[in-house]
Amino acid sequence: MAEAQIGIIGGSGLYKMDALKDVEEVQIQTPFGYPSDALIMGTLEGTRVAFLARHNRNHTLLPSELPFRANIYAMKQLGVEYLISASAVGSLKEEVKPLDMVVPDQFIDRTKNRVSTFFGEGIVAHIAFGDPICRNLAGVLADAIASLNLPNVSLHQGGTYVCMEGPAFSTKAESNLYRSWGATVIGMTNLPEAKLAREAEIAYATLALATDYDCWHSDHDSVTVDMVVSNLQRNAVNAQKVIQETVRRLSENPPPSTAHSALKYAILTPLD
Ligand code: ADE
Repeated sequence: MAEAQIGIIGGSGLYKMDALKDVEEVQIQTPFGYPSDALIMGTLEGTRVAFLARHNRNHTLLPSELPFRANIYAMKQLGVEYLISASAVGSLKEEVKPLDMVVPDQFIDRTKNRVSTFFGEGIVAHIAFGDPICRNLAGVLADAIASLNLPNVSLHQGGTYVCMEGPAFSTKAESNLYRSWGATVIGMTNLPEAKLAREAEIAYATLALATDYDCWHSDHDSVTVDMVVSNLQRNAVNAQKVIQETVRRLSENPPPSTAHSALKYAILTPLD
C-alpha cells in the first residue's frame, strides 16, 4: 500500500495539485465504500502526500452525498497523520473579504443528514472535541500563509466555521443569525471531516478560502454559484502555494498533536 504522512483534501475549485511529482493514482476500497475519487499520491517538497478531490475531480458529489467515512478511512489507511482541508466558504464578517484566507479554530454544526462517527454498532466512544482543529497544525498553516505575502489576500487566524447542510445557500435570516453568534465563515463540508479525522487520530486543519459574503451583505442580494466559482479559481492558485509551503514546513518539523492520541480515554466499551 502506498504511504503518505500528509493528506490534502481539495474542495470546490481545487481538484488537483499541479506541483505534485511522481504521481500515482490509487483506488482504495474501505469498509465504508469508495472515497469521493481515487487518491492521488505524489511528491511535494520531497515528501509523499495523498490528495483527494472532495467532490470528485468532475464535481459530481453534493456535500450531503460525500462519503466522509470512506474519505477519512482511506487517508488513515495510507498512513496520513496530518490532514489539510482546503474549502470554499462564505464570509460572515465585513473584514473577511472574498479571496481572503481564514484558519478557523471552532465549528458550529448545522448539518442534519451526515454520518460523522466511525463508532456505534457495539462500540461506544466519545472523543474530546472542544478544540476541533489541531492547534499546532493550524499554526503551521497560518505561518505558511503569512510567509507568502500573497497580494490582495489577508490572513485571519482563528474564527468559527458554521457547517450547514446545503445544498441551497442560507436564507438572510439564517445568515444574520450566524453573524449574531459571532461566526466568521460558512461552508458545507468541514465538520464531519474534522470529527472523523479526530476519531481516526489524524491532526486536522482547515484552509478556508472566502469566495463570497453570503447573502447578509448589502453588496450582494444572494450568493450565486458563478460568484463562488470565479473567486475559487483565483483562490485555487493561492491555495496550492499555501499547501506547498505548509507541506515544506511540516516535513521539516512535524509538530506534536493531541489528535494523535485522541482515542486514549475515549472508548467506553471494554475491548479485549
Ligand atoms: N461555500 C462558498 N460560499 C458559501 C456560502 N455562502 N455558504 C455556504 N457554503 C459556501
